[in-house]
This record gives sequence, C-alpha cells and structure tokens, in this order.
Amino acid sequence: MKSFHIITFGCQMNEHDSERMSGLLEQEGLCAVDTPDAAEVIILNTCSIREKAEQKFYSELGRLTRMRDLSGKKVAIAVAGCIAQQEGRKILARVPSVDMILGPSDIARLPGMIKRSSSTGGPEIATEGDSDYHVSSLPAARSDRIKAWVSIMYGCDNFCTYCVVPYLRGRERSRPSADIVQEVRELAGRGYREVTLLGQNVNSYGKGGAAGDCFPDLLRKLNDVSGIERIRFVTSHPKDLSDDLIQAFRDLPKVCESMHLPVQHGSDKVLMTMNRKYTIAEYRDKVRKLRDAVPDMVLTTDIIVGFPGEHEEDFEQTLHLLGEMRYDNIFAFKYSQRPGTAALKLAGHIPEAVKEDRLDKVFEVQKPITLERNNRHKGTVQEILVEGKSKRGGKLTGRTRGNKIVNVAGPDSLVGSLAKVRITSAGPNSLGGELCE
Ligand code: 5AD
Ligand code: SF4
Repeated sequence: MKSFHIITFGCQMNEHDSERMSGLLEQEGLCAVDTPDAAEVIILNTCSIREKAEQKFYSELGRLTRMRDLSGKKVAIAVAGCIAQQEGRKILARVPSVDMILGPSDIARLPGMIKRSSSTGGPEIATEGDSDYHVSSLPAARSDRIKAWVSIMYGCDNFCTYCVVPYLRGRERSRPSADIVQEVRELAGRGYREVTLLGQNVNSYGKGGAAGDCFPDLLRKLNDVSGIERIRFVTSHPKDLSDDLIQAFRDLPKVCESMHLPVQHGSDKVLMTMNRKYTIAEYRDKVRKLRDAVPDMVLTTDIIVGFPGEHEEDFEQTLHLLGEMRYDNIFAFKYSQRPGTAALKLAGHIPEAVKEDRLDKVFEVQKPITLERNNRHKGTVQEILVEGKSKRGGKLTGRTRGNKIVNVAGPDSLVGSLAKVRITSAGPNSLGGELCE
C-alpha cells in the first residue's frame, strides 16, 4: 500500500481541498502518514495570495527535494493548488524533479496521475480544470469530527485589482443546493455538529440560478437539517450582503452571530482603484443594518495597507475606520504584487518600509479594540461547542457562537457537545470562564 503525506499552505479552502485529496487517495487504497519522511507520495497544496506564501512554498519544496535526494528513496512529489495553477510547467524549470503539478479544479485527477507517474517516471501536469468540478461530489477524509467544511462555490468573478484568485480558481461556479443539503445531512448523520460553508464570495452563491437556490434560501434549508447545531460561512463580499441575508442571520437559530466582512480599506478612492464596488458609506450602512438586526454580531475584517497610490491621508482613513467599526478582530496585510493582476500597472507603488510602518500602526490601533470587544463578553453566559482540550493547562476548549475561543475547566465527556459558560476573563486571543451547570 502506497503512503502519502499532504502539506497545506493558505486558506480554509485549501485545507478542505487537502481533505478531499486525502479522501480520494484513501478510497484508492493509499494510506495517510503523519510525516513527509515516511511517505512515498508528498503533496504540497500551495497558496499564491501573497508573495510570502509563495516563498514559503519554494523553500519547503527545496527542503523536501533535498531530503528525498539524500535518502535515495523513490518518493514522488506533487505540487497542487494555486501556485500549481499559476506556474504550471514553469515549476519544472525551477525544480526539475517535481513529479506532478495539478490545479485546484483538477483534484479528481490525482489518483490517476500518481499511477501514471510511477509507471512512466515522467512529470504529470494537469491545470486545465475540470468543467464539472463543481457538480462532482468527491470524498473527504476530514481532519475534525465535530466541525466540517463544506464547499458551496468555487472561483470568483470580482477581480479586485490586487487579487490573483479569479485567475487561478476561475469563474464563480455554485454547487447544486441539493448536493450541499445532502452532504450536510450525511455529516449530521455521522455526528458533526457544525458546518462552515466555504467559497470566495459565499453571498453571491446561486447567482444565475443554476444551483437551484440563492444563499439565504440555502441557509434556510441547512437550518432545517437536524443534528447540525451551528452554521457558519466565509467569505462574504460587502457588495453582496443583502437585506435577505441579514434577515436570515436574524431569523435562523443555527446561523451563528459571526461575520467576516472584508472592507480592505478606509478610503473611497482606494476602494475604487481596488475595484471593490462599494463606498465606505455603503459599507457603513450595511454594517449598521447587520448590527441592528443582530446586536451580538461578532464582526471581523481584512485590511490591506500600502496599496499603490495610498497616500498618508488615505491610510489614515483606514485607521479611522477601525476606530469607527470596532471590529472584534482583523487580518491585516501589506499589499503584495501578484502576477497578472491589474494593480501591478498602477502608479504609486509604496516602499516596503512604509508598508511595514503602516501595518504596525494598523495593529497598534486594533489591539485595544480587540481586547475591548473580548472584554464585553465578561459576565455574559455563552453557549460553546466544546472541541477538545486546550494545549496548555488541560482545560476544555471551545468556541462561542461568535467564534471566539473559550477555555474552561470541565469533564472530557463534554467534548463534542454544547455547554453554557459564564465568561469570567478576557485576553487578546481568547476568553476564560466557568461551566454554568
Ligand atoms: N496583497 C495583500 N493582501 C491580499 N489579499 C488578497 N490579495 C492580496 C494581495 N495581493 C488579502 C485580502 C483578502 C485576503 C484573503 O487576502 O485582504 O481579503
Ligand atoms: Fe480576491 Fe476580491 Fe475575489 Fe476575494 S472577492 S477572492 S479579494 S478577487
């Protein structure tokens, strides 16, 4: 029996794609091993969102090929995911001993590629994409027994000018809603309590009608699946946050009160050159509606600093927005030039040192806000889904409906169930509490 090991870089979409590759290979009789040195097939599932992710991948690939060459063992190395799609055959010019290269929509071809490459010895390359990928139901070897990821759509049509995703993951395609409901029912039957719906822009799910439902209707159907207690989704684009979706948040008990709503920037001028298709006034209005409908909403966002043409006063608008929005948490990044994207040709690229300085300032402004937002839960009773033991301290660890980590002393028998916890402390990254009953 052939052994394999997958190393995953990047987002939850990639994590889930890795679960699907594992599921497919296990179905074919291969077995997963915990370390690359024990594997006959090593798969690197790559990310290309920023240059740093790409550098991390190439250094890992270099390390693995050297390790393989030194050991003299016959080990096949596959590059999957976004860098495979972006670079294709060009990866071979840099690292000739790579055996397989496959894009994110070519996952189903992996077992066949492994067989062929071990018999022919030549490199196998598949980056053309399977046009039926979004209607296929591939098995998944899931890494968790309580929470599961469920892809509901692939690709993106938005073409934000900094972003490489639409070029690598293709046009937006929604999975048929009946398939998604079926998958979630099966997960519930196997004991899963929480699902996170995945897509680049989940709230435009179903656009065009071919999937059978729009996103709020899909949520309504999933809310009816018994056994599932919590529904989450990432990522949402502010331009597609509809009143209907806000109502679904308010009315559907299983849809959790947390939303990741990337704003990217605080200046209308920069948002325009980013091709984000909303103004800060429109964004503000949607957030107000969302918080009016669901006062407990835990809101998080993504921020980019140092986008081309970002003057000091534009940047200050981002800082101002953070103060105004009071996000529970943010993910902030320095703008990174990506191949083929429109922003490359913009004037006014920002020096690295300025970007670094601005990123520091963003975190400086956000840090006390995150703490303040965590502190606000003190004294409240939160429902947590207990996920396991915390690494330090041996306490139980779980998440609130708002997706905040809570550590609490309690019996192991609670793992996998919902518990009521009174929050007694708050730090920058997690909350602490005591069991209510
Ligand atoms: N540079 C920096 N950040 C980027 N993101 C996407 N592309 C880039 C880029 N070229 C960020 C955006 C997006 C998140 C997933 O990654 O903030 O929301
Ligand atoms: Fe990239 Fe914009 Fe699509 Fe998100 S919405 S994946 S940032 S192009």
